[in-house]
Amino acid sequence: MTHHPQRLLVTGGAGFIGANFVHHWLSAHEGGRVVVLDALTYAGNRANLDPVRAHPALRFVHGDIRDTALVGDLLREETIDTLVHFAAESHVDRSIHGPDAFIDTNVNGTHSLLKAARQVWLAERRGPAHRFHHVSTDEVYGSLGSADPAFTETTPYAPNSPYAASKAASDHLVRAYHHTYGLAVTTSNCSNNYGPYHFPEKLIPLAIVNLLDGKPVPIYGDGRNIRDWLYVEDHCRGITRVLTHGWIGETYNIGGNNEWANLDIVRHLCRLVDEAFAADVTLAARFPQAPAARGIPSETLIRFVTDRPGHDRRYAIDANRIVCELGFAPAERFETGIARTLAWYLAHEDWWRGVMDGSYRQWVARHYAPAGT
Ligand code: NAD
Ligand code: DAU
Repeated sequence: MTHHPQRLLVTGGAGFIGANFVHHWLSAHEGGRVVVLDALTYAGNRANLDPVRAHPALRFVHGDIRDTALVGDLLREETIDTLVHFAAESHVDRSIHGPDAFIDTNVNGTHSLLKAARQVWLAERRGPAHRFHHVSTDEVYGSLGSADPAFTETTPYAPNSPYAASKAASDHLVRAYHHTYGLAVTTSNCSNNYGPYHFPEKLIPLAIVNLLDGKPVPIYGDGRNIRDWLYVEDHCRGITRVLTHGWIGETYNIGGNNEWANLDIVRHLCRLVDEAFAADVTLAARFPQAPAARGIPSETLIRFVTDRPGHDRRYAIDANRIVCELGFAPAERFETGIARTLAWYLAHEDWWRGVMDGSYRQWVARHYAPAGT
């Protein structure tokens, strides 16, 4: 079923994946409209849209997805035909310490969007063909054992963290609005993303900035938990395939077929940082606290800390449906994607220092300081 998105409302477009999606979309599509709706929480930054700030198709609206009236007004006045929903509280550790915000944004916020879409697209019949795409996660499927087959679209839901449970609830609401009211929805459930603009509370960017600043890199538990990593631009390409060719009411798993234990990925990053400092003598002057600046292996910063409660052991995505039905294939190899990512963080020190100011620092101080073992 082919859909031709012309006028997009992108929620959470100032966050990590949302901003990468806006860059990707605007680089590939002439004309049309992209309206970003973002509440600019600690995870959302206007700076993430700097590369496309002057693009004539882009409009930024500072607002909350829970404001149903605002969303309705935007759908009407911008004659939106496609809503791409990224906005969420996205960090599992935060959901363990404060689940309320996750219910508010991920469950009630998604429901607010669905209500607005139903009102404008179905009750008022204003728009042409419409599409509501919900960006979700593989965490809804729970945890795999080492020999288990990867998650498919029919794997039963078994969320284990408040974050995962809130995303599972939002997935169910999206499904229900299709089956009950006829809203034209699609959902994608993706594995762990990495790449530019990734907030440095998540494992890969946290490891990079800590290695550069000479701070410990915390590894939860035994470091053998496994995640399936996908370069963020490949996720954006997958979402685009679903938007244009996905079947209404269907869900699509997106993943990189790229499983790594946490400890192995951090050790890999340590090697890349050591090599970068050996190849570029200016890095030692820029990052004098880094062990690599003194010829000491970055690995000396690895610290095993108390495990995350309810820590899922393994995620792995079976992406056969989107590959076979929609012709999706990741373009970035992990070796090049992770090298590009490190290069991006080395070139964008102002960005990561800027986003780490304020509430993030206070939160880290409160929740991580006692965790070392
Ligand atoms: P992020 O935390 O980096 O960004 C979330 C964005 O949503 C921020 O810009 C924030 O300001 C905005 N936001 C939060 N609450 C809002 C509200 N009430 N109203 C409007 N805007 C609000 O998240 P991310 O990592 O970019 O993830 C984006 C989406 O993709 C999420 O739905 C997440 O569940 C999903 N996802 C993420 C990953 C991953 O690896 N990061 C993998 C699979 C799926
Ligand atoms: O699988 C998709 C999910 O991936 C998304 O839905 C989430 O929004 C996204 O945050 C991510 O969740 P994870 O919990 O897998 O990502 P995180 O980077 O927080 O952790 C990755 C792994 O690394 C996980 O096993 C926990 C571990 N970890 C994490 C941090 C922050 C550590 O060992 N040390 C750390 O300091």
